[in-house]
Amino acid sequence: MPTCHRVYYKKAQKMEEIEDSSIALVITSPPYPMIEMWDEIFALQNEEIKVALEVGDASLAFEKMHKELDKVWSELYRILKPGGIICINIGDTTRTVNKNFQLFPSHSRIINAFQKLGFQNLPEILWRKQTNAPNKFMGSGMFPPGAYITLEHEYILIFRKGEKREFKSKALKENRRESAYFWEERNIWFSDLWDFKGISQGLNNKETRKRSAAYPFELAFRLINMFSVRNDTILDPFLGTGTSSLAAMVSERNSIGYEIDKNLKENIKERFLQVIPFGNKYIENRLNSHISFITERINEKGPTKYINENLNVSVITSQEKDLKINILKSIKEIDQEFVLKYKQIEYNSTSDDLNNKKLIEKKSALDKWIS
Ligand SMILES: C[S@@+](CC[C@H](N)C(=O)[O-])C[C@H]1O[C@@H](n2cnc3c(N)ncnc32)[C@H](O)[C@@H]1O
Repeated sequence: MPTCHRVYYKKAQKMEEIEDSSIALVITSPPYPMIEMWDEIFALQNEEIKVALEVGDASLAFEKMHKELDKVWSELYRILKPGGIICINIGDTTRTVNKNFQLFPSHSRIINAFQKLGFQNLPEILWRKQTNAPNKFMGSGMFPPGAYITLEHEYILIFRKGEKREFKSKALKENRRESAYFWEERNIWFSDLWDFKGISQGLNNKETRKRSAAYPFELAFRLINMFSVRNDTILDPFLGTGTSSLAAMVSERNSIGYEIDKNLKENIKERFLQVIPFGNKYIENRLNSHISFITERINEKGPTKYINENLNVSVITSQEKDLKINILKSIKEIDQEFVLKYKQIEYNSTSDDLNNKKLIEKKSALDKWIS
């Protein structure tokens, strides 16, 4: 089934284009309160923020910035389906205001706001972002007690609207089974500590990432596959360079994004239109990783019990048997909407191919699937 992707270039405090209870998953990273690069964008949304910053009232500025984010969070409650999930990437900030160095704990301020709105808290992820910057340690150096801990992590806060989502009909159950992920992915993705060292950052070059504070494609891809099913609609109210929508495209989900900065429009469009080669390479790497993993496992422990016939590979659990992955075929812009079509991975299997010993040969066959 094709997927649709739309971006609204306006602020997300009012998302009137989105119907009540229509979104399955929100993944986003807002501008971080009290980080200088976002001062201006916050000040444009509320003049009092500018004044508070000018007079050096840091607590007031912090609170007023969060009040703007609160308006978006309360819209999320309206548009999210029952059982829908929200993942928010946020980092706390340190800043010296009036010669006073302090921490601005955005993550706890956001947790409070979500609890007040009635969301349920789910276990969160710490995203470790190690820095090698020469000035990473601040304060009084080797003299106690005035040196400060370096922040080298951010949070991915996770909330749910009400009870667990249900999949009652036969068709819904089937779609859920097809949306499964691999066992070895589960073991990494569902850990509470993420470290992307060594993982390709996808379409964002280093400069774009720094300027736009984009998160890695891998982060968005994981969250979408962990917390939604194929054909769901994913929303990112702070779309930035469009990473969440790209990950939705590669995961066969629909997406909606809001972005206040119209200057990003060309950049977003360019990235969307380049999704096919990037996305198919990503899928190829994902399948190759699975084949390497399962080949090693079979060599160590012997054949596994289950085969996924859609992909023609061995898997560890019965839950992975129906997992489906389609590759990207075409993308077109139609009436301000990007429509993406998919095609099945074609692989001429014989009964012999299902034999686990053939897995290594399949590795090279993957190249043919993708082309
Ligand atoms: C941290 S960046 C998001 C980066 C994004 N995750 C990516 O991968 O590119 C936050 C984005 O939110 C946008 N923004 C700030 N306030 C907004 C608002 N009220 N409504 C919509 N977008 C907003 C900023 O222009 C910025 O592009």
